[in-house]
Amino acid sequence: MELKAATPQDAPDMAGVHAQAFDTPWDETDFEDLLEGEGIFGFVVRGEDPAGVLICRAVAGEAEILTVGVAPWARRRGVGEALMTAAMGMARQAGAETMFLEVDVDNAPAVSLYERLGFERAGLRKAYYDRGANGRADALVMRLDLTSRPV
Ligand SMILES: CC(C)(COP(=O)(O)OP(=O)(O)OC[C@H]1O[C@@H](n2cnc3c(N)ncnc32)[C@H](O)[C@@H]1OP(=O)(O)O)[C@@H](O)C(=O)NCCC(=O)NCCS
Repeated sequence: MELKAATPQDAPDMAGVHAQAFDTPWDETDFEDLLEGEGIFGFVVRGEDPAGVLICRAVAGEAEILTVGVAPWARRRGVGEALMTAAMGMARQAGAETMFLEVDVDNAPAVSLYERLGFERAGLRKAYYDRGANGRADALVMRLDLTSRPV
């Protein structure tokens, strides 16, 4: 598996992985537009096929993970952790002191990954996610102090 910084040319691969990881995926144009945005960076992990994607925004000392997803076939092999660690390093380089993300409270794999990386529970956004026929779900806001960890 190889991790690299994403460019707009990676948008088709990123959309392909996102569609495998999420019920409401972002398309190619979403990734192209995002990667041209101010303070935005991303990473892609590839094995034989694209395996994982991450997009982060770092502006004015704060970083936010906008999305991170790993294709089901590539899970539990350290891809998610590698993507998050790369984003933490790049956010620090961009001058961010804090990193935030939102996650469905019931998404145990993701919450477990973030807690392992040092994220703490910072708050709850009630009924934040629309689960269609399954109603709405709360979002957990998680926060990481980037200054207290080595680069
Ligand atoms: C969450 C997600 C990104 C994790 O990716 P991954 O590549 O499988 O994660 P890793 O292999 O790097 O796991 C690192 C650690 O996170 C935790 N973890 C990951 N998946 C887990 C699971 N299914 N159950 C429990 N802990 C889990 C474990 O501590 C794991 O370490 P271990 O394998 O040594 O036990 C992946 O499951 C995914 O894409 N899910 C769907 C999309 C999603 O929910 N994205 C996050 C939205 S906020």
